[in-house]
Amino acid sequence: MAKPRILSGIQTTGDMHLGNYLGAIRNWVELQSDHECFLFMADLHAITVPHDPKTLAENTFKIAATYIACGIDPDTSTIFVQSQLPEHSELAWIFNCITPLNWLERMIQFKEKALKQGDNVSVGLMDYPVLQAADILLYEPDGVPVGEDQKQHLELTRDIAARLNFQFGSEDKPILKVPEPLIRKDGARIMSLTDGTKKMSKSDPSDQSRIDLTDAPAVITKKIKRAKTDPLRGLEFDNPERPECHNLLGIYQLLSNQTKAAVAAECQDMGWGQFKPLLAETTVEALRPIQEKYQALMSDRTYLQQVLANGKTKAQAIAAPTLDKVKAAIGFARL
Ligand code: TYM
Repeated sequence: MAKPRILSGIQTTGDMHLGNYLGAIRNWVELQSDHECFLFMADLHAITVPHDPKTLAENTFKIAATYIACGIDPDTSTIFVQSQLPEHSELAWIFNCITPLNWLERMIQFKEKALKQGDNVSVGLMDYPVLQAADILLYEPDGVPVGEDQKQHLELTRDIAARLNFQFGSEDKPILKVPEPLIRKDGARIMSLTDGTKKMSKSDPSDQSRIDLTDAPAVITKKIKRAKTDPLRGLEFDNPERPECHNLLGIYQLLSNQTKAAVAAECQDMGWGQFKPLLAETTVEALRPIQEKYQALMSDRTYLQQVLANGKTKAQAIAAPTLDKVKAAIGFARL
């Protein structure tokens, strides 16, 4: 029997942080053994806000290297670059023409990002979730493993698929498969180190707010040492008055591969002075093998190029027929 298929991606803006790893990539690695995986670098999404053309390509390679360094096996999973496949933009255009504008005006991420852009908001930024729907639906995945912040975009994707099916398909013969969001409870929302009520994010102006996967051990230790805490002794999960405490314990739990109950018991009598060095050491050790592999991959550009060229071929073999199917249903001339 065919394995269920998953698809996911990461935007090629800046370095990846612990949130991307614990909310997304780590789950892909786990799913890899019994799923067919399509994982890509979302570089078309990266240009929806002002970007530096000198770093765009390098960021794409960095993310590809990170996927592999974290444990994605390019021999069994398909790793590809979004902009290499024109199918993504073409399907996005078709979706643009069936998506009501007010569906996009409701998107929380758009509102947040648009606020930061002032008068410079591009049409692309608003259209971002439509392109994301195209990214997903082209591959007809069963599930889309992402962090909590992508939930609304996945709901929109499902709505777009349902609308296309309703307008141009028939009930017994839907055109596109409607995928399920796969959002794990643990790690789905890793919070900022400077404010436990805000998610850890690439776009936070403070570098201190996040741990990047490529941060040197001394930097990681310093960031954790400076992380916001509270004056209470005894550490606990799930106290709404102590968001930082919940977040840091959660990171420790995931990086040390323990259950929540084990961590709660281990840390219940600890003070921050004891916990922070433990968390720093755990983080450094968890990231060490990833960083070593990442450095080796980044110095072998030929290998990365080859992985991405293979990935493009494998991705296109799925994406092109899906686009054809949609174009036929819409009624375009077939020559
Ligand atoms: P991006 O690049 O912002 O984030 C990539 C993945 O990391 C997750 N994530 C987090 N998880 C937990 N805690 C956090 N603080 C945190 N920050 C980020 C995100 O939920 C995501 O899974 N629009 C997408 C990229 C994209 C995509 C797609 C994803 C484009 N097309 C199709 C899935 C399917 C984005 O900007 O993710």
